[in-house]
Amino acid sequence: MRCRLTLITTLLLSLAVAPAGRAAAHTKHQAICPGALWYDTQGHLIEAHGGCIVKHGNEYYLFGEDHSRRNQPDRRYIACYRSTDLIHWHYCRAVVELKNPDPALFTQDWILERPKVLYNRFTHRYIMYAHIDGRGYSLARVAVFSSRTIAGHYRLLRSFRPLGHQSRDIGMYQARNGKAYLLFEDRPSGFRIAELSQNYLSIKKNICLIHHHLEGLGLVHYHGLYYIIGSHLTGYAPNADVYATARSLQGPWSRFRNIAPPQTKTYKSQSGFLLKIVGTRRTTVIYLGDRWMMHRLWNSRYIWMPLQIGGGTLRLPKPRCWRINIHTGVVSFVP
Ligand code: GAL
Repeated sequence: MRCRLTLITTLLLSLAVAPAGRAAAHTKHQAICPGALWYDTQGHLIEAHGGCIVKHGNEYYLFGEDHSRRNQPDRRYIACYRSTDLIHWHYCRAVVELKNPDPALFTQDWILERPKVLYNRFTHRYIMYAHIDGRGYSLARVAVFSSRTIAGHYRLLRSFRPLGHQSRDIGMYQARNGKAYLLFEDRPSGFRIAELSQNYLSIKKNICLIHHHLEGLGLVHYHGLYYIIGSHLTGYAPNADVYATARSLQGPWSRFRNIAPPQTKTYKSQSGFLLKIVGTRRTTVIYLGDRWMMHRLWNSRYIWMPLQIGGGTLRLPKPRCWRINIHTGVVSFVP
C-alpha cells in the first residue's frame, strides 16, 4: 500500500514538475548567450535560422528557417517569433508551410532558405524574399511571398532569377525613403545589389556588381557609410567573414577586410543579417550569424553580437552574453 502511494505521489509529482521543467528552460534566459541553447517562451528551441528581424510597433519579429524534426518532410517551413527585448521570443506561427510549388521544376529535396521580410509602405503588404532551389542548388532562384499582416500567412506569388542572374544566398536592405534592395550571390560573377520595384514584387534594376564571391550577405547604413558583410563560399562550414564600406550603394566599395581574427572562422559562425537598433542614447548594430550543424540543422545555434562599428571599420567581438536596453540602445555584458 505504502509502495503504491509512493508510486502515485511520484507520478503526480513528475506530472507537476514536467511542464515547469520545460518552462524553467526559458525563464532562465536573462541575456543573449551566443552559441547556447535558446528556448522560446513556451520552452521549445527557437527555430529561425538564416533569417532576419523586422521592427513593427514596439515589437521585433524574427523570421527564419524552421528545421524542427517534427516538420513534414515534403514541406518547407519559415517560422515567425516576436519579442520586445530580443531575449524572450514568443512563437507566432509557421508563416510559410509550403509544399513543393512546382514538382516539374523543383526536385523532392527542394530547399527554401534565408527568408528576408520587409514592409512595403506603398502597398501596405509584408513582402518576403527567400532562396528557392532544387537538387545541387542548380536553379538558383528567389521566391517572393506576400502577407497582409506581419505574422500572417505568407502566400507564394512567384519565383524567378533576378534580372536573369543566378541567385543563391540573399539579403535585403530597405532605405529610409522606402526603396528596397536585394543582395544576391551571383555565382559566375560575385554578388549583386539590385533595386526592387516600388511594390517590391520584381527587380527594377541592377545597382552594383561586386566581383567577390560572397554569400550570407548583410547590409547596414551607419553614420553616413554603407557596411556590407558576407562569408566565403564554404557551404555550412564557417570561414573568415569579411566586410567592405561605401558612401553609395553603387560603390566604389572599399577592399574587403576580416570582421574577426581569421583563425576563429568568425567564431564558428556565418553571417546572415545586420540589425540596427536606433536608441535614445546610441545606435547599436547587431550581427546575426548562424553556427550551422550541417547534419542536424534544427540544432544550429545563433551567434548574435553587437558590433564595434564606425569610422569605416567593423569588428565582431569575441562572443559573450549580453543584453540591450531596446529604448536607449545601450548594450551591457553579462558575466
Ligand atoms: C551555404 C549557405 C546556406 C546553405 C548551405 C548549404 O553556403 O549559406 O544558406 O545553402 O550553403 O550547403
